Amino acid sequence: MKILVTGGAGFIGSHVIRRFVTNHPSYTIYNLDALTYAGNLSNLSDIEKAPNYHFIKGDITDGPYIENLFSKYAFDKVIHLAAESHVDRSIEDPLSFVKTNIIGTVNLLNACKSIWGEDYTNKLFYHISTDEVYGSLGEDGLFTEESSYDPNSPYSASKASSDHFVRAYHETYNLPVVISNCSNNYGPNHFPEKLIPLCINNIIHQKPLPVYGDGKYTRDWLYVIDHAIAIDQVAHKGVVGETYNIGGYNEWQNIDLVKLLCDIMDEKLSRKQGSSQNLITFIKDRPGHDKRYAIDASKITKELGWKPSVTFEEGLRLTIDWYLSNADWLENVTSGNYLEYYKKMYS
Ligand code: NAD
Ligand code: DAU
Repeated sequence: MKILVTGGAGFIGSHVIRRFVTNHPSYTIYNLDALTYAGNLSNLSDIEKAPNYHFIKGDITDGPYIENLFSKYAFDKVIHLAAESHVDRSIEDPLSFVKTNIIGTVNLLNACKSIWGEDYTNKLFYHISTDEVYGSLGEDGLFTEESSYDPNSPYSASKASSDHFVRAYHETYNLPVVISNCSNNYGPNHFPEKLIPLCINNIIHQKPLPVYGDGKYTRDWLYVIDHAIAIDQVAHKGVVGETYNIGGYNEWQNIDLVKLLCDIMDEKLSRKQGSSQNLITFIKDRPGHDKRYAIDASKITKELGWKPSVTFEEGLRLTIDWYLSNADWLENVTSGNYLEYYKKMYS
């Protein structure tokens, strides 16, 4: 079984690669990643020498390259995570999201179609998507697999479009596909442009904690390793043509989450309780900011037996401990390109 994971050097992809390389030694796992600002091979240093793991540096937006790669390796399954993933960057530069998230996905679909021919036995294209495709919820309700698509940011519009192409290749060409749409992940190796790692990094350095708007926006947080376990289960037991929603049943308003992070960090860093909360700074809102996301994950629980295994309190402490013991990792990713971007967004 040759499995291609795209975007395996990124946040979620690296946890997926580690899980497949260690839990499925009979599979050969290929990690295709362009190593953009978000890709970091040091995320995988513990497994990079495993005999069933191979890294390929390459760009999914390059159609002829992808066709050649698939002819050469004849992958059996594709788990597609490579993407531009940050909403704020999509507001600055929508076209790069169109290129990677839409054109990149269609290049992969075309390559699968051409190498698999008509014989789809044991073949699968598994597309990793987001709850953001469903748009924004009001005070109550949950996104189900039947919720209509209503994306509001260039990022979510590009992910929605890629989901539609995946579905269309199933309907039109019978390509064996499955999609999962997950809520906000957090955990080790999360790039510090996203809320939780950005706040952890800024608390360490006693820098302002930028909270958009009134801070009352709500997200449903899931520990990244629980997402990797869900992806493993969907890849093995998911029904072709189906969509599975994945979430943490764990809604937090941003301001409450940032305050909780401050309190845990004060405790871990032996600072006076309440001191980090003084760093909280309300700033201009994100344009088109989705008010609330929340996932109904009952389908994957009922049909595939998955549910989150880590409580938020446990996950957050594991995450903070990881960042505190991996200061080099944080230092490396916060230099160079990221710093320039940071200045542009927050100065
Ligand atoms: P990430 O930004 O941390 O990683 C993306 C990876 O894709 C990086 O390693 C990057 O180098 C690679 N990549 C980008 N462009 C590429 C290209 N043209 N060719 C090859 N590789 C390329 O993203 P993430 O947070 O790990 O998200 C992974 C996937 O999961 C994305 O598809 C995202 O939409 C989806 N998702 C993320 C979350 C979340 O909370 N982070 C939640 C639900 C779904
Ligand atoms: O819901 C799944 C999505 O979650 C994924 O598809 C995306 O790839 C991922 O980036 C994430 O998107 P969000 O926009 O929800 O995540 P982010 O961490 O950027 O923001 C979380 C919330 O915090 C959101 O309401 C915006 C707010 N925020 C974010 C940043 C970076 C702030 O208030 N201040 C900040 O500095």
